[in-house]
Amino acid sequence: MKQDHISYLLALHREQDWAAAAIACQISQAQLKKAVAEAEREYGCSLVKTGTVFRGFTTEGEKVVVWAQGLSEAISTLKHVFAVSNSRKAIAPLLDRRSVSPKRLEAPGADSQEIDLMIEAALSAPDHGGLHPWRVLVFPADSRARLADLFEQEKLRRDPLASTEDLRRAREHATRSPTLLAFIMSPKLRMRVPEREQWLAAGSALGNLLNAAHQLGLPSCSAESAASTFYFVLNWG
Ligand SMILES: Cc1cc2nc3c(=O)[nH]c(=O)nc-3n(C[C@H](O)[C@H](O)[C@H](O)COP(=O)(O)O)c2cc1C
Repeated sequence: MKQDHISYLLALHREQDWAAAAIACQISQAQLKKAVAEAEREYGCSLVKTGTVFRGFTTEGEKVVVWAQGLSEAISTLKHVFAVSNSRKAIAPLLDRRSVSPKRLEAPGADSQEIDLMIEAALSAPDHGGLHPWRVLVFPADSRARLADLFEQEKLRRDPLASTEDLRRAREHATRSPTLLAFIMSPKLRMRVPEREQWLAAGSALGNLLNAAHQLGLPSCSAESAASTFYFVLNWG
């Protein structure tokens, strides 16, 4: 039996009336009767008691209805399973993003076009008032040694007793990954949008940026830099 004929039969069983069932199925009564007659030919027996008004299903018809109900439920379950699976597929890049340790970030890293795309993704994050209360700095390779010096100095300022190993690690934040960006929180003061919302907007932007990196096939991670609590350094490669 065709799938739509199953739903016609179930509508007739539910409504117990030709006209109401035809309306429920959005077809004419003639089409409904033709579909039932087709099913009766297929099964080789009457499914509906004869007469011009609907007088109920025959014993065989009731059996077919029970079978049709089971099949209809199975089809609905299957559709639901496929819908859930399609929804998961649609957001798969968001579900499977994971940070990759800076130790495992390898060259060549992101090119300028990819960085622009990531920033564009960050710009489309939810942002009350469109303030974009953040900035992104790109550190090209020839700026890393100078940045490493600054990280080392800041480490020493914060911890005058820092060991050589501590200082080496602070410098490494600037040099280890093939691509290095600073994501800088830059709240706009005295605005009608409270600062806490601006922090949330910046967090959303950072999330978009990292998700965009992931979708471009670029492993990445974020870490607070040694320079300032307002700097989050992002690396990818
Ligand atoms: C803004 C920001 C700063 C972070 N800073 C550090 C950090 O300094 N050190 C660190 O080990 N993890 C830091 N993390 C956490 C890691 O980057 C990572 O998100 C975390 O280990 C969870 O892994 P996942 O991203 O795969 O879920 C930071 C995360 C964010 C969003």
